[in-house]
Amino acid sequence: MSYRICCIGAGYVGGSSMIVMADSCPGLQINVVDHDKQRIDSWNNLMAKDLPIYEPGLDEIHKRVLGKSLFFSTDVELYIKNADMVLITVNTPTKVNGHGAGEAADLTNIELAARTIAEFARGTTIVVERSTIPVRTADVLKGIFRKNSSENIHILSNPEFMAEGSAVQDLIAPDRVLIGGDDQRAIDELAGIYQHWVPSERILRTNLWSAELAKLTANAFLAQRISSVNTIAALCESSGAHIDEVTQAIGADHRIGHNFLRAGPGFGGSCFRKDLLNLVYLCHYFGLPDVANYWRSVLTINDWSRARISELIIKKLFSTLCGKKIVILGFTFKPHTNDIRESPAINICQDFLDEGAMLSIHDPMATIESIHQALSWQSPSSVTFNQDLISSFREADAAVLLTEWPIYLKLDWKLLSSYMRSPAWFFDTRNVLNRAELENYGLNLWSIGFGGIH
Ligand code: UGA
Repeated sequence: MSYRICCIGAGYVGGSSMIVMADSCPGLQINVVDHDKQRIDSWNNLMAKDLPIYEPGLDEIHKRVLGKSLFFSTDVELYIKNADMVLITVNTPTKVNGHGAGEAADLTNIELAARTIAEFARGTTIVVERSTIPVRTADVLKGIFRKNSSENIHILSNPEFMAEGSAVQDLIAPDRVLIGGDDQRAIDELAGIYQHWVPSERILRTNLWSAELAKLTANAFLAQRISSVNTIAALCESSGAHIDEVTQAIGADHRIGHNFLRAGPGFGGSCFRKDLLNLVYLCHYFGLPDVANYWRSVLTINDWSRARISELIIKKLFSTLCGKKIVILGFTFKPHTNDIRESPAINICQDFLDEGAMLSIHDPMATIESIHQALSWQSPSSVTFNQDLISSFREADAAVLLTEWPIYLKLDWKLLSSYMRSPAWFFDTRNVLNRAELENYGLNLWSIGFGGIH
């Protein structure tokens, strides 16, 4: 009989990582379970456009493995009962109520999953934490399993490091796979699965607590780099330096490296803010208030980055947006995803609406409904969505590029300049537009981190 894996949680991590695992390990039988019937139905639908998440390349692999080595079901209990290994990929949002609200991770879903495992698991079962969780969460699981005298359960921590938009590539060729645990045989069993497609030297083995903490701190270090580079971008603008020249120079030092040095309107997405808050909470919990303040400042600078962009655009447009039309280019938190969670576009657009602007929002992947919801939809007549990108520039006073989708790099600048009201401004918060091209057609360009002429 084939080795049976049950993955609890059919969200981003559960869905995409199990699709890639099933493709690399046809000998496994993988069941992804979730009580959310609508989500399960969408994963079971072979129409690619209906997958619950958009991730380049995922639909093709999904088609290849669905119904062969990969199955999606709402029958959580049945597949836990049959499993040799249970992976937990439920989400752990920031707590909104009670002790630690606003910082600590809400472990309700983890706890529920653990209780169900304790009740239904049979024989020796390996339980793997894959959700991003605070260090020592495995203690919670151990407590629950002990209470239910589930002696044959071994706990591993195997956090996922993939990023949205590049999930398939990250999963197929990860920089590392991290497995933490205290049972060597359980670690070997999980490592053996990854060895089907990941070179052994990239599989790192640690204790449980190191694995749990490494995920949070990896995200904290990445977020810190973005906050740092965004402060330097502001300094470049004031001092006459150019951020791309500065980051090229500092990135050439191999100890620093080129990745994650792009200035922008601030980081978004479902992970960085949540994980930083979680880290701040943990530092307080372990009696390290100064360390907590240090990591909180990474978030403070991110909030400042977003507010800075809104403020300087309003100022450039003569300190009033009342009745002005602004084209918003991109709403997702990064390109190649349809995810708008924590996107800087939300706060920036809200600031413009508060100033009385009329927004014409374009994004290749985000749905109109999700944008409506994010903007709390207070003044519907002030926001329009135009699928015809070019015509949305008619009578516009300015355009703000917030997400660096490739289609925004090669627009018909000549035509746009004839559509827009003078003085027509482009605000490039990702530093990707070609200055000479735009200025050639009389368009004013402000680019993040570009000091000297504005
Ligand atoms: C992040 C991490 O990169 C993943 O390694 C991690 O597994 C994931 O969180 C998670 O915890 O699940 P993700 O949030 O999907 O991945 O996307 P990132 O590529 O990290 O981008 C986050 C934000 O930072 C975006 O808004 C992006 O525009 C911004 N960013 C990124 C910059 O402003 N500058 C950069 O140089 C890089």
